Amino acid sequence: MAEDLKLSRGISREETYKEIIPQINALVVGETDLIANLANITAVLKEAFGFLWIGFYFVKGKELVLGPFQGSVACTRIQKGRGVCGLAWLEKKAIVVADVEQFPGHIACSSQSKSEIVVPVLKNDEVHLILDIDSDQLDDFSEIDDKYLKEIIRIVEQVIA
Ligand code: SME
Repeated sequence: MAEDLKLSRGISREETYKEIIPQINALVVGETDLIANLANITAVLKEAFGFLWIGFYFVKGKELVLGPFQGSVACTRIQKGRGVCGLAWLEKKAIVVADVEQFPGHIACSSQSKSEIVVPVLKNDEVHLILDIDSDQLDDFSEIDDKYLKEIIRIVEQVIA
């Protein structure tokens, strides 16, 4: 497919998710390289929503290690159970943080980050990757993001071996 993303202006966040998900699917389906696919997914989310930071962390042994991302430099390693990402890994579930300053143990990679959503990628009931998105707006993530990011994660789950 053409690499240009088709994005309508002036539509809701939910409508934008509905517009980008088939495009993410088309991008990922013909490519077997996981890093390439994750890199493109972060680019699509950045272009569609302009979030402050979007990235993946890989589970490597007892740590999460930084993978493809869009945004400014971030911490490279996170221990299991630490921060929002480490907790999502430990609990194998998505976490929405409306105000990062109220989250005990939040790891601040940027002082501009105000709210955050983290969604784990599972294969055979084990977490392989973590998707982390930071916003510079308080309370920027809702059940809409949770629902559609999980759809995007399902696409990733199908391409990890
Ligand atoms: N805030 C995350 C750390 C990763 S950065 O936001 C990119 C956390 O608390 O796990």
